[in-house]
Amino acid sequence: MASISLKRITSTWIITVLVLFVIAIIFGITMRFNQGKFIQISPTSFYSIMTVHGLTMIGIWSVAGLAAVHYLLTRYVEIPTSISVFAFLLTVLGVVMLWISAFIGEFHAGWTFLYPLPFKAVGEAWATPLFLLGLGVLGVAWLVWSVGMLFQILKKYTLSQAFAWQHFGSNPSVETPPLILISTVSLIGIIVCLLSAVVLLVLFFAEYFSNGSYTNDPLLMKNITYFFGHTIANETLYLGLASLYELMPEISKKPKFKTTWYVALAWNCTLVFILTAFFHHLYMDFVQPLGFQMIGQLASYFASLPAAAVTAFSVAVLVYKNQIKWSLSNILFFLGVMGWVIGGVGALIDATISNNIILHNTLWVPAHFHTYNAMGNVLFSLAFFVWVANDFSDLPVDTDIPKYIIAFLLLGGFGFVLMFYFGGALSIPRRFNLYPSEFNEWSWVATAGGWFAVVYLFAILFIFMTILKKCLKVYNFQHAGRKQ
Ligand code: HEM
Repeated sequence: MASISLKRITSTWIITVLVLFVIAIIFGITMRFNQGKFIQISPTSFYSIMTVHGLTMIGIWSVAGLAAVHYLLTRYVEIPTSISVFAFLLTVLGVVMLWISAFIGEFHAGWTFLYPLPFKAVGEAWATPLFLLGLGVLGVAWLVWSVGMLFQILKKYTLSQAFAWQHFGSNPSVETPPLILISTVSLIGIIVCLLSAVVLLVLFFAEYFSNGSYTNDPLLMKNITYFFGHTIANETLYLGLASLYELMPEISKKPKFKTTWYVALAWNCTLVFILTAFFHHLYMDFVQPLGFQMIGQLASYFASLPAAAVTAFSVAVLVYKNQIKWSLSNILFFLGVMGWVIGGVGALIDATISNNIILHNTLWVPAHFHTYNAMGNVLFSLAFFVWVANDFSDLPVDTDIPKYIIAFLLLGGFGFVLMFYFGGALSIPRRFNLYPSEFNEWSWVATAGGWFAVVYLFAILFIFMTILKKCLKVYNFQHAGRKQ
């Protein structure tokens, strides 16, 4: 059973994540309304907002996933709560540094801060080093947290057991729970990509302090940047899936998911291929060796299809013709799988080289990643939040949620991403504060996207309020005493 200190830090993460989520959605709506000419903000403000929006979203859903697996892993292994507290304090510091660099220093090179943009930004001179330092602080925080959790897993399970290799034979001597397998795969991926971010920051600072005597290789920088960015965005999603495997059957009052040979195989494939799928970001870099482009396309398929097929199959078996107990948590898990699969198909269409020639850097890109994030990973984490908030409080388990809230979530979320898909199909480029003049007649699509996002925000606020009441219970000392 989770200790009261773990409950408190988990609750603190949840409240922080949801407050930042609401603010970041408002930033997103501001961008959509500006692209639709419904409101007007300066180009620099647009790009500062875009940078903060992207980083905040990637950051909060990474820590939400880490906080969830930390909480759930304590069912199997001991993990000190102090590493989560340490990560929280550094995360607050890192976020403040990034926000100051963007909103006061006008740093606006995008969340991918692709070289050499950070050195060309027109904001304050101190903004770029502050931004890079802020990233460094976040990197240290999450690296320590991830290494700490992996270390504790490997104290109880050998590496091959954590990868569930014994499940390839019959009658495995040790059962590896899916939570352990998926957490191991995801944490290793996160550690590797955070280490690559450290290398990236060192290279940036080497050039920054060299007074022009050293310049980086742009292609190398781009490779490292996308290795880091693509990998962390995807591993975060897998952390959400780890919670799903652990909780969805339990909440549905059905037997736990088990690790079988095909579950083990799928997640081992994911570990290997997710680290090379990022090459699909470099299809338009024609100096990149052709072999890498081919690896990019194949790895994109192999990284996503096995995990998606196995998860969708397991969830389908759980719900099909089964009298299961539906509650807000498992509805969110179920919808999240739908959003993840739909966004995944959008991603594979884009990762196919012959399509990418047309779709590259169009709004198709934010279309697919917003689908599997806003309608996939976010819902996985929200499902965990709803479940764990019940674990924190004595309030009735899973209070009824009005059906119209789910309808708003679906209408708002899918309407919002559909407007991005339209934009992509029309070849409207991404990351334009105003659409190029050729697309003037389509600016209403952006405004419509913004209004759908308002509907989505309404549903999120409702869910947030439902969770908040229960999360606050955990700071109540009397309650804490009784639970202990
Ligand atoms: C309803 C909520 C959201 C709205 C209204 C919104 C809106 C936007 C908009 C308008 C852009 C710029 C698109 C472009 O022209 O290239 C954007 C970019 C982005 N969004 Fe969202 N978004 C939302 C949710 C999310 C979520 C849940 C994530 C989770 C990871 C996310 C991550 C990002 C990232 C990484 C970028 C790229 C930023 C960059 O290019 O530097 N967004 N979003």
